[in-house]
Amino acid sequence: METFYHRPVMLGEVIAGLDIKDGGIYFDGTLGGSGHSYAILAANPTVTLVGTDRDREAIEASEKRLAPFEGRFRLYHSNYKDFADVLDRAGVDKLDGVLLDYGISSHQVDDEDRGFSYRSAAAPLDMRMDRESPLTAKEVVNTYPADRLLRILREYGEETFASAIVRTIVREREKGEIATCGQLAKIVEESIPPKFRSAACARQTFQAIRIEVNGELEGLGECLKGLIRRLKPGGRICILTFHSLEDRIVKQVFRELASDCVCPKNLPVCVCGKKREIEILTNKPITASEEEISENSRSKSAKLRIAAKIEA
Ligand SMILES: C[S@@+](CC[C@H](N)C(=O)[O-])C[C@H]1O[C@@H](n2cnc3c(N)ncnc32)[C@H](O)[C@@H]1O
Repeated sequence: METFYHRPVMLGEVIAGLDIKDGGIYFDGTLGGSGHSYAILAANPTVTLVGTDRDREAIEASEKRLAPFEGRFRLYHSNYKDFADVLDRAGVDKLDGVLLDYGISSHQVDDEDRGFSYRSAAAPLDMRMDRESPLTAKEVVNTYPADRLLRILREYGEETFASAIVRTIVREREKGEIATCGQLAKIVEESIPPKFRSAACARQTFQAIRIEVNGELEGLGECLKGLIRRLKPGGRICILTFHSLEDRIVKQVFRELASDCVCPKNLPVCVCGKKREIEILTNKPITASEEEISENSRSKSAKLRIAAKIEA
């Protein structure tokens, strides 16, 4: 697949949420097709941007797409969780805005070779966002002990039929390697009682395994705190999530950093001395308009949370 396409979700809301400032420095940790980054750079000719993606194809495509803004951006093939190292390399200390748009891009889902989709029957079970990382979905499905698989399907997929699915996986892999997305999708379908089967019944299992392969939730909360601490006073952070597990972590981190005291409720006086670091600008997450959902079904599950760094 030559072009890296992805329709940016809630583009207007994200740009408004970032409150782009003259001379501002912005960090897009999840460049993807760089639709959001393009809009950030286009919004004000004086801003600069540092971007990361774990997918080298996304970096290569973004270098081309952002070429009209030459000299105003630096892109790095990196996990955004390594932002401290990336910002050092870019010579940037404090930021005016941070954007994280979690999950996978349309390009990754639709590229059969990447093995993300339960609809791609012949695709290899891969699911790596970073094709240079060692762990694949095939290894998870074929080598993980049953109890670990069960935990992954329950925690990351919130899959009701996790036990039955894991039992079938273990039975089938004894006969031979489970190598394709089609094989895994069929196993899921067979494990689910007929009345609960649907065209998308493998979605949660695939989501769970993808989260495990890419370590998506590992260190997420700490990373968010670290990024928020790199914001200048008045700087903004916008986070787009696509499932409840990520959204819950974002919500908890925002609440913790927006509170003055995190002492246990039974203590009569504050002993932690904690001062609030952010103001939450979205008590309820922003969701996509009906119009956007009708044009881009991927936006349906999106939640946007925005916070501003407190003035020092
Ligand atoms: C939903 S897409 C982003 C789309 C982008 N906002 C746009 O406008 O095109 C998510 C991207 O984040 C990348 N990604 C996910 N987790 C990452 C991580 N921990 N570090 C860096 N990139 C990550 C994926 O490879 C994917 O390209």
